[in-house]
Parts: sequence; structure tokens; C-alpha cells
Amino acid sequence: MKRIIVGVSGASGVIMARTLLRALRTADCETHLVVTNAARETWKLETDLPPSELDALADTVYDPGDMAAAISSGSFVTDGMIVLPCSMKTLAGVVSGYTDNLLLRAADVCLKEGRRVVLCPREMPLGRVHLRNLLSASELGCVIVPPMLTFYNAPRTLDDQIRHVVGKALLPFGIETDGFVPWKET
Ligand SMILES: Cc1cc2nc3c(=O)[nH]c(=O)nc-3n(C[C@H](O)[C@H](O)[C@H](O)COP(=O)(O)O)c2cc1C
Repeated sequence: MKRIIVGVSGASGVIMARTLLRALRTADCETHLVVTNAARETWKLETDLPPSELDALADTVYDPGDMAAAISSGSFVTDGMIVLPCSMKTLAGVVSGYTDNLLLRAADVCLKEGRRVVLCPREMPLGRVHLRNLLSASELGCVIVPPMLTFYNAPRTLDDQIRHVVGKALLPFGIETDGFVPWKET
């Protein structure tokens, strides 16, 4: 069974984390969820759903201030981490190693242990600081999967777009998901 850490930061699109957690549950993955305080705020502003909607989908939910949690240690072995959505602040924390919350500490641990880290950065437009940090993240070994619109998969709804992003974020872990329509030559 795969064990994956899901980090949710305060960028727009926190609802995408629900689709990700559902996909991981369907794929029989053990999930460890950490949602930043800012993400909880964004959740309130962008959805009319209770926070428990997200928490209920994870096997373990951590307080972002709990630096003694299992996922803050390299000896807690995981397959890696996905940050969806990834704010520019969290991106800056990942590339600088500034681990002032559990999400950032978990990402730092994954990087130092050579585990997969997938970042789904969300900002528009991207400024130079963001672009520099994205390059640094890529150089550090992170896979950058921005939640971009895709049209070759013939999406009909926003959910179709989100499922495609989630499918792309899970590809580095070798996990295939429903609703992900890869490009096929006709
Ligand atoms: C409704 C809303 C939408 C936001 N969208 C973004 C965004 O798309 N990208 C981003 O980098 N920050 C966005 N922010 C700002 C972040 O929430 C803020 O920088 C926060 O400090 C991030 O903290 P975190 O990375 O610890 O979650 C948004 C804030 C709100 C309230």
C-alpha cells in the first residue's frame, strides 16, 4: 500500500484537494493530510462546505502547528508528498527550507530523504520571484504540476478539469485515476 502526504495550502482552488483525496482513497493509498491555517480560511471563502469534508477523506489529519507529528520525521517512511494547491508562500518555504509549519517540514523531510514531491502552484500572473522559486523547486527535484486548463481531454465541466490536474499530480507516483484522460494519438 502506498503512503502519501497531502499538503493543502492557502492558494485558490483548495476544493481540488477533495478530488485528490478521493482519488487516493479509490487507489487504496494511505493518506496523511496537513492543511495550513490559510488554507482553512480559503476553504471557508471559496466553498460552502464544512472543513470536515476534507478531513473525513484522509486516514490521518495533522494540526499544521504540530511539529512533533509523525510526518515531520524522516523515519516515518512515505512515498512522498503532493501539495495541492501550493501557494507562493508555501513554494517559497519549500525552496528555502524555511519549515515554520508542518506542511513545510514534511516537504523538507521528503526532499532530504530523496522522496517524491509534487507541487501544484497556483498564482496568476506569475511574478519573477514565483518563477525563480519554481525553477529552484524543479532543480531540487520537485515535480511542478500547475493546475492549468487542459482541452485535449474534451472536458465538459470544472470537475473534469480538476480530475485531469489530479491525474497529472498522481502520475509521478504511478497511480492511475478515473477521469484522467491522457492524450491519445488519433
Ligand atoms: C480567497 C483567497 C485566495 C488566495 N489565492 C492565492 C493564490 O492563488 N495563490 C497564492 O499564492 N496565494 C493566494 N492567497 C494568499 C495565501 O492564502 C496567503 O499567501 C497565505 O499566507 C498562504 O499561506 P500558506 O502557504 O501557509 O497556506 C489567497 C488568499 C485568499 C484568502
